[in-house]
Amino acid sequence: MDVNETLIRRMTRLAIEHGAVNLSQGFTDEAPVYDLVWSGIAAMLGGTEARRREIESMTLRELLAARGATGGEALDLTLKDLLAAARTPRDQFNQYSFPFGLPELRRAIADYTERLYGRRPDPEEEITVVLGASEGMAAAFCALFEPGDGVVVMQPCHELYPSQAAIFGLVPRFVTLREDREAGTWRLDRDEVRTAAADPAVKAMVVNTPQNPTGKVLDADELSFIAELCRTHDLLAITDEIYEHIVFDGHRHLFLPGFEGMAERTVVVNSISKTGRATGWRIGWVLTPARYTAQLRAVHDNLVVQAPTPLQKGAVALLDLDRTFFGGIAEDYRRKRDLLVGGLREVGFTVTPPEGAYYLFADFRTVPALAEMSPTEAAMHLVERVGVATVPGDNFYGTGDDGSRYLRFAFCRSTETLGAAVERLRAGLCRTIANDDTTTPRGPAPGRAR
Ligand SMILES: Cc1ncc(COP(=O)(O)O)c(C=O)c1O
Repeated sequence: MDVNETLIRRMTRLAIEHGAVNLSQGFTDEAPVYDLVWSGIAAMLGGTEARRREIESMTLRELLAARGATGGEALDLTLKDLLAAARTPRDQFNQYSFPFGLPELRRAIADYTERLYGRRPDPEEEITVVLGASEGMAAAFCALFEPGDGVVVMQPCHELYPSQAAIFGLVPRFVTLREDREAGTWRLDRDEVRTAAADPAVKAMVVNTPQNPTGKVLDADELSFIAELCRTHDLLAITDEIYEHIVFDGHRHLFLPGFEGMAERTVVVNSISKTGRATGWRIGWVLTPARYTAQLRAVHDNLVVQAPTPLQKGAVALLDLDRTFFGGIAEDYRRKRDLLVGGLREVGFTVTPPEGAYYLFADFRTVPALAEMSPTEAAMHLVERVGVATVPGDNFYGTGDDGSRYLRFAFCRSTETLGAAVERLRAGLCRTIANDDTTTPRGPAPGRAR
């Protein structure tokens, strides 16, 4: 089986090894959403629903009384000792729970989906809580298809799709998005997609919008086109929506099950990883038309049993937040996008600003110091000599050489981290232009290395 450690994670290892600013893997270095964290803590400490509720509103006075601490000594209690008073001997939330997800989380997912898209999936019949979108995708591939089945994948794409397809014996049919610099977007070649979808072996189309790595946000016309192909050729759509809140410049994320005839043929994969800034929590969900749910849950149960119980409680608090929270996510990333787009252009990269998600897929061939390199050489040069970790663009392609001019930069880091990366690029790449010396080791770090 042709599956290796993902290159994205390998670049993270190299970033650590070389003390580089890590813009390779798509996770933030900023704190997760506090409601999420606090609810997870309350569930872990409380252990039962009744106690968790008590803890949620407990005052310092009550905690100190329970701890038997009075007067000045109370001020010297550590937080650890103080919170020990919140525990009870009975526990349910640190134990196994329903394999397909806590009822309250499935209820929260249903409400959240309805608030955002006006459609309420049935928590009993259509929602399965999984270990992040990664497991959601894998469970869908494994449960809904047979080895040898084809899946249409739009490249460049997250390396997960072809790798997981290989694990489950599925055959990716790649179609290629092409950068249209004049229009400032990436385009689907509709003839190519039509031909791929008409292949009798093809059983599904994988959709990812907003897309990693190009940032493309599929519009109503493009999604209608995909929906029409799915209906015509009786295909499922598996849609990865984890960047649903990260859309810029008036673009909107549209919900594929809302398109004609798609409610019964769309599998939606989502997670709190990006929305809650909690990629390490591994909480996600899959919405399936009811007829596929039992099979998906069976695969999930047999492979991983369940997602962590207390963290599911935390996810409830995140998904129950109001629209203002979700609506505000994009603005922070827009500022970061603009910062990095500006920094990359300054040193010679050609960049189409992404419409959504949090990656820049930038053409490095216009950077004099990198112009003659392959993507891997350029990425190695940047991580070893300049001190910035990226991902070689060809990693996101299954066929052809369209990726040979691109590097992917993640801009989901703090502004300080992005600023440090920009400074290093300026120092490393402008200096190499000036000295015409591409092997000069970089100077002292202008910021913390991550
Ligand atoms: C498009 C896409 N899908 C899935 C994932 C993995 O998501 P999760 O952390 O929910 O497994 C990523 C992570 O970067 C991604 O970019």
